[in-house]
Amino acid sequence: MIGIDVVDVERFRATLERSPGLPGRLFTDDERAYCLAGADPVVHMAGTLAAKEAVIKALSLGNLAAWARRVEVTRGASGAPSVKVTGRRETVGISITHDGGYAAAVAFRDISGEPVREASEEPTREGRGGNGKLDRFLDRPSPFARVLYPGSDFP
Ligand SMILES: CC(C)(COP(=O)(O)OP(=O)(O)OC[C@H]1O[C@@H](n2cnc3c(N)ncnc32)[C@H](O)[C@@H]1OP(=O)(O)O)[C@@H](O)C(=O)NCCC(=O)NCCS
Repeated sequence: MIGIDVVDVERFRATLERSPGLPGRLFTDDERAYCLAGADPVVHMAGTLAAKEAVIKALSLGNLAAWARRVEVTRGASGAPSVKVTGRRETVGISITHDGGYAAAVAFRDISGEPVREASEEPTREGRGGNGKLDRFLDRPSPFARVLYPGSDFP
């Protein structure tokens, strides 16, 4: 699964001016310290917020209010961001960008380290329902099918 999100920096700045307590509800202490060290903290906060929302989508977690501080974005020595999600074992990769008044982020769930499901645990084609388009897609040799259904015997 992947997730994506974009934040309008000036709109977010206006929201923060109206709700000065918001950073404390959205960001952990370490996240705030990182953002506040930047030349324009709101830009980094917007990127961090976009990353949280992208992760929430990639893992289908639910709403931002419940997960904001449980999805923690950190940066390594190179500046590359990574994420830790309290109470979840999935490995999630993220990327953040900001330019032209917007901050955006993508997140993906890395399934390469997860155990491959047995074929008997795979959902059946009948169970997937639909109009046969998915069946036709799966019947074609496709790298996407291997990614979507790891462990299946696609060529
Ligand atoms: C990665 C890099 C090309 C991005 O440049 P950019 O186009 O100006 O970056 P953008 O404005 O699109 O995005 C900024 C975001 O990129 C992310 N980022 C920064 N460095 C990164 C890196 N090395 N790898 C991946 N993502 C990086 C950060 O999340 C940053 O936003 P944040 O500070 O709010 O978290 C640039 O930062 C770079 O060349 N970094 C290398 C730095 C390096 O090697 N440092 C070694 C220090 S020991």
